[in-house]
Amino acid sequence: MFFQKEAKSFDIDMGNIPSHIAIIMDGNGRWAKKRALPRKAGHKAGAEALEKIISDCRELGVKHLTVYAFSTENWKRSKEEVDAIMDLLRQYLKNYFKRFLQDDVRMKVIGDIRRLDKDIQESILEIEELSKEKNGLCVHIALNYGGRDELRRAICKLAEQAAQGTLRASDITEEVISAHLDTAGVPDPELVIRTSGEERISNFLLWQIAYAEFFFTDTLWPDFDRTSLEEAIYYYQNRERRFGGR
Ligand code: FPP
Repeated sequence: MFFQKEAKSFDIDMGNIPSHIAIIMDGNGRWAKKRALPRKAGHKAGAEALEKIISDCRELGVKHLTVYAFSTENWKRSKEEVDAIMDLLRQYLKNYFKRFLQDDVRMKVIGDIRRLDKDIQESILEIEELSKEKNGLCVHIALNYGGRDELRRAICKLAEQAAQGTLRASDITEEVISAHLDTAGVPDPELVIRTSGEERISNFLLWQIAYAEFFFTDTLWPDFDRTSLEEAIYYYQNRERRFGGR
């Protein structure tokens, strides 16, 4: 049967868990199509998979998890599909994500949230505020996010400071650029995962992934589970990371 997965286990080193994992959660539509379900059922299953992966990352000791939930390009999808994703997001922000507060999980959003409905913006600010003292896993949800748009917004902030005379061109170091991105203060991801067999970055964290390892898997996002996560971490642990040196 196509949804029967081979049970495998991966001998991961708990002393070498990546501190920041970023995930492009792809394949919800194909997962639904295989089951003759509407695309929104795929997104619902995708949100459930995300809930489990958040718990798994927390248990494994990952410090930051960044997930690509809605890109600046995703507005081009049908209104019906965009509305379905936004409704899911509403539900998760207002209810399901709050369950993680008892597990010391912090929630943050990256991306330009000004284009989202007002009530969603309010729920984002609420959950960010409620979870701001949490010290376990920090989940960064990318919403109306695009790597180029994030860089454009950072450059605008720097240009404004230059125009006011508070910043010189020579002050613009890599650290200054990083500090003006949505991910300011967050270490760069060491591991990027993309599901569903696609091997593209699709405008995700363009600046931050300079030295990341990439794990691509054919597994569709709703089927991505603890074993899949451990497989990705095992792959990462067996890569030799040289950062351009020897
Ligand atoms: C990609 O699959 C997935 C998305 C564009 C949306 C991701 C959203 C979720 C996982 C749900 C998020 C929910 C919350 C609560 C944050 P696709 O539709 O591109 O799949 P396809 O390539 O098979 O068509």
